[in-house]
Amino acid sequence: MTNSQSFPSGFVWGVATSAYQIEGAHDADGRSFSIWDSFSRKPGAVSDGDTGDRACEHYYRYPEDVKLMAELGIRHYRFSVSWPRIHPAEGQTSREGLAFYRSLLDELKRHGIEPLVTIYHWDLPQWIEDEGGWANRRTVERFERFADVLFREFGEDVPKWITINEPWCAAMLGYGTGEHAPGKTDWGEAIRASHHLLLAHGKAVQAYRRLGLKGEIGITLNLDSNEPLTDAEEDRKAQVRHDGYLNRWFLDPIFKGGYPEDMMEWYRPWVGEFDFIEPGDLETIREPGDFFGINYYNRNLVKAGERHSLIKAEYEVPPDSEVTDMGWEVHPESLYRLLARLKDDYTSLPIYITENGAAAADKLEEGAVRDESRIRYVKAHLEQCLRFIREGGRLAGYYLWSFLDNFEWAWGYGKRFGAVYVDYETLERTPKDSAIWYGKVARSGVLPT
Ligand code: NOJ
Repeated sequence: MTNSQSFPSGFVWGVATSAYQIEGAHDADGRSFSIWDSFSRKPGAVSDGDTGDRACEHYYRYPEDVKLMAELGIRHYRFSVSWPRIHPAEGQTSREGLAFYRSLLDELKRHGIEPLVTIYHWDLPQWIEDEGGWANRRTVERFERFADVLFREFGEDVPKWITINEPWCAAMLGYGTGEHAPGKTDWGEAIRASHHLLLAHGKAVQAYRRLGLKGEIGITLNLDSNEPLTDAEEDRKAQVRHDGYLNRWFLDPIFKGGYPEDMMEWYRPWVGEFDFIEPGDLETIREPGDFFGINYYNRNLVKAGERHSLIKAEYEVPPDSEVTDMGWEVHPESLYRLLARLKDDYTSLPIYITENGAAAADKLEEGAVRDESRIRYVKAHLEQCLRFIREGGRLAGYYLWSFLDNFEWAWGYGKRFGAVYVDYETLERTPKDSAIWYGKVARSGVLPT
């Protein structure tokens, strides 16, 4: 082992999950339906008709999960709060809902694990969707209230907060393609929803600052590196549109104070004059955070085409590329390129990779899961992180997605991202080889050569 593979001391090594994907206990202690409870009940919405009703039953098994995390050597844990547990109905704040997260935080503290709490990871209460959900500006106020309740209750115990996880997915997959809850297919609503999600982020940052809390707050975006499939002008233009849709539409307002002009032009047929952007909104969205979170999984190669009805684009994976069980191309260097772009064009804030990882068709055999492909994936991406850090990049930490196998949204339980294997019959947990490997890396801060 050489020193050259060492990460800086203080680098944060974590694992991540989200509430709907692992908690289960969907009707326990007064929790009401989220949009994912409703959506997963629609025939055909989720593979095999899976729902999060039971999931990993982390709601009941959290002491065992926290203990396992600690035994593996993990000292940082990113999780999210289920909004319908806290606000099951208009005007109601559930003491039981708050008590669950209090117990989880206490358990983490006992084991020396530092929490990073995501306020919104896609489980909007159904009663808020019934008023129009993220396409309705009122949801911004409702989110601000939810965030404020959490800050007051847990603000002293949580050093780091993420306002919103992946607003692109919540808006575009939820209201545009309909692949995610609430399953709407209206691009005008999707674009409107994206603005409200960004505004909700800015409002939550302001609410946090008003309380004078000592911790840090930021947002997490899902970003990619992308390239045109060929040099043809139409493919290059499609790539610019894709980049505008996925990356710049979110990065530009957060860091530059305005939406990209080319995309505003492109979106006009769906949203007209953008009357939902009110005076002051862009200043709110630009409210500075303390760090910036990114979730990165793959590169996208883009060509012009009809498959994507909003941006007239299609995607291709080169036939010789390695792909994960999601069919996503493994392209570690693109993580480096993305980090370098963020540093050059957008921000000098410390960056956290709040998710990175791979789905694999894992099998539990003789008490073990030999997931070499996941170890290779994570190692290759960590090498690119190190490259960025060595060149002076401010990368402060890495959270592996995911701690446990879990409900992979529209894919249900068929896709396994966990470092820990979950048997969905018995709910027994078994650390995969990757969990043991990652725990060693986290303990030593050194990437084995
Ligand atoms: C991003 C999401 O935040 C997470 O919930 C999801 O499971 C992973 N990506 C993998 O798709």
